Amino acid sequence: MNFHVLTLFPEMILQGMNTSITGRAIAKGLLSIEAVNIRDFAFNKHQKVDDYPYGGGAGMLMQAEPVYLAYESIAERIGKKPRVVFLTPQGKVFHQSMAREMAQEEDLVFLCGHYEGIDERVLEEIVTDYVSIGDYVLTGGELPAMVMMDSISRMVPGVLNNQESGETESFAGNLLEYPQYSRPEEWHGKKVPDVLLSGHHANIEKWRREQSILRTAKWRPDLLKSADLTNKEWNEVRQWKKQGKEEADQKDKEEI
Ligand code: ADE
Repeated sequence: MNFHVLTLFPEMILQGMNTSITGRAIAKGLLSIEAVNIRDFAFNKHQKVDDYPYGGGAGMLMQAEPVYLAYESIAERIGKKPRVVFLTPQGKVFHQSMAREMAQEEDLVFLCGHYEGIDERVLEEIVTDYVSIGDYVLTGGELPAMVMMDSISRMVPGVLNNQESGETESFAGNLLEYPQYSRPEEWHGKKVPDVLLSGHHANIEKWRREQSILRTAKWRPDLLKSADLTNKEWNEVRQWKKQGKEEADQKDKEEI
């Protein structure tokens, strides 16, 4: 997988990506990363890349030409028109399934905007995917690009070692991960659940699945709707909900 990032802050991208698991994968040659500085393609006296928006309004816009020339330099070098992801809060919200799908590409270009945005005409010409990492506004596209590259990298064969691969699908089946514990057996008066010390693998699996469902029902009920549960598990969820409601009602009564 070759990542190419069009940015005004190449050092931010390179420092972030050359760290930890992605750094190891780059060193192994499983990933490559290049950060192309858009400013290097601003052929004016002060290497200016921004200007006022026509029609007025607050802030400055990144101009079309330097962005286009920086993109062309990549397309020419790799000999094809690559997929170009523009990071914007207006895009489709990033998801595990999108990461999985994008990991099939050989080359991916990320376009990071700054200021109030980028001249629409160059976006129309080069962007294939508009992607947001969530409903909040950041100062630029670099962090979202790194978030995407990190999660796409995990899907590239060989990037995670065996132990790390175990966690790959923490969204598998639309369920959250179960809680985990390590030594000591007791910490701050809290004990590790007995079942995990039992050595009984079937019971451990059963407990973990139950915890995943419980956790998803509590924290991400929106995910649970599309989760792959058996009828028995759905009944259990209903039971927990009823029980939880009764306990809350009881608490209310005690407080009255
Ligand atoms: N640029 C600024 N905010 C963003 C967001 N939430 N997602 C993607 N790109 C952005």
